[in-house]
Amino acid sequence: MNKLAVIYHSAHGHTAHIAQHIVDGARGVPGTDVALLRVEDLAGSPDALTAYDGFILGSPTYLGGVSAPFKAFMDATGRLWRNQGLKGKVAAGFTVSSLPAGDKQSTLMSMFVFSMQHGMVWVGNPFLPEQHQGVPYDEAVNRLGSWSGLMAQAGHGSPADAFAPGDTKTARLFGQHVASVVKRLAAEAA
Ligand SMILES: Cc1cc2nc3c(=O)[nH]c(=O)nc-3n(C[C@H](O)[C@H](O)[C@H](O)COP(=O)(O)O)c2cc1C
Repeated sequence: MNKLAVIYHSAHGHTAHIAQHIVDGARGVPGTDVALLRVEDLAGSPDALTAYDGFILGSPTYLGGVSAPFKAFMDATGRLWRNQGLKGKVAAGFTVSSLPAGDKQSTLMSMFVFSMQHGMVWVGNPFLPEQHQGVPYDEAVNRLGSWSGLMAQAGHGSPADAFAPGDTKTARLFGQHVASVVKRLAAEAA
């Protein structure tokens, strides 16, 4: 089994909701064991990351960057950076915020640079925005037009009602895509 971890912080459940859709998509790839992990539970034991083949990192966008708990998790991996314990593993990122842009790109950039410093292999969100093919905007895959990672826009309702269907659909496809890449790289390495 290839081991993939979806690692996230969520204060009010919106990032957690998208994380669950990503997990559902990834679990559709045969041979993939998917764990859903909170940063709060990992910050004290970052060595646990070495057991995984790939990671999908998720944080809400707070003031144009990752949230403080997510940054604490990243900083806790300093010793792993020194011995390059995560080198060659797959990494991808997602973020949730309330505004259509909301400076979400900065959050993804933090995750990208973190992953590059660890020598990991970054995987993006390779889906063309479906509204260009006539799909209604709210239902369109990658409607927010983000390729470097997954972006989702949360309304102010409860997490289950806060997202356009296009964003949850993109999340499932994104999880499936990253799990497929992990599987392909593992097969090539075997
Ligand atoms: C301190 C703070 C800063 C925020 N900064 C931004 C921001 O820069 N851009 C944005 O679009 N939304 C911003 N938001 C809104 C959150 O990204 C949004 O509510 C998100 O859904 C929270 O995710 P969560 O429910 O998983 O905690 C901010 C919220 C808080 C509490």
